Amino acid sequence: MFNPEKFVKEKIPEIKKMVKGKAVIAASGGVDSTVAAVIVTKAVRENLVSVFVDTGYMRKNEPETAKKMLRKLGLNLRFVDAKKEFYSALKCVIDPEKKRKIIGENFIRIFEGIAKQEKAGYLVQGTIAPDWIESGGALRDTIKSHHNVGGLPEDMKLKLVEPLRDLYKDEVRKLARYLKISVSEKQPYPGPGLAIRVIGEATPEATDIIREACAIVEGEIENAVKNKKMEKPWQYFAVLLPVKSVGVHGDVRTHSNTIAVRAVHSIDGMTAAYSKIPHDVLEKISIRITNTLKDKVNRVVYDVTNKPPGTIEWE
Ligand code: XMP
Repeated sequence: MFNPEKFVKEKIPEIKKMVKGKAVIAASGGVDSTVAAVIVTKAVRENLVSVFVDTGYMRKNEPETAKKMLRKLGLNLRFVDAKKEFYSALKCVIDPEKKRKIIGENFIRIFEGIAKQEKAGYLVQGTIAPDWIESGGALRDTIKSHHNVGGLPEDMKLKLVEPLRDLYKDEVRKLARYLKISVSEKQPYPGPGLAIRVIGEATPEATDIIREACAIVEGEIENAVKNKKMEKPWQYFAVLLPVKSVGVHGDVRTHSNTIAVRAVHSIDGMTAAYSKIPHDVLEKISIRITNTLKDKVNRVVYDVTNKPPGTIEWE
């Protein structure tokens, strides 16, 4: 049985021994990176600089909420607005693996710059076991290059520190509860963010659509959970498909985008079962999306695929 207190107690001296001088971490406000930042900060204090990078692919209100939460934890924080760099790097890129690699490389370039300014020699990451297993570790096939694993350049000068590398999500959540981190129950969110929830080119305009759709899916599902209409899924979000279909608005023909809603139950993200969401909740989601995004979306579908054969994210 995983013991969070014992884990932290054992990790602190290990990190102290490994990290000589300054280190940087990309603190996104998610469970994994927040836990990693808090544990490493316990070991090296202000020598860990936690950097929040706004890639432009964050969810609605996420930059503000994450900043507030991270500030409360007493980390040594820095904020970087890199929206323009990421949008321009992903221009005309449609291949999912290319997207992930480009995002990973951009991230690391920004981090190498920050590390240089901070004179840091170490990069701390909140990588957990499923990230590297699915990125082709341990002689497995590469299913997806998780951006915090597969996107690291071979000539990277920073030494990697990954204190959560052997843990699964439920263990990281236990650690977060033990460390009194408020986002302990937050649903997982992929490093590449909304960029992999827009199938095809993740333009700023397409990203705005999916940002709004994701917020509606999250809001309606959390509401239904609160009203005991359904169990909380492990993960729930929207995906913008590169499919336009014909619809009708009032008595006017429309030809616009399709949103897929995805919600799954899982223990560690390695396998998943699609959530049996009540139909009235799905209908509310569909109506809200097509009303709010009137000129942009005229069709909403629900993904009923388990993992395998599907993966949780579409890219
Ligand atoms: P898949 O789509 O591979 O996702 O079934 C399994 C879990 O991992 C998350 N995910 C990522 N997390 N970097 C991350 O930190 C990534 O590049 C990445 N890709 C997928 C996904 O949201 C799900 O929880």
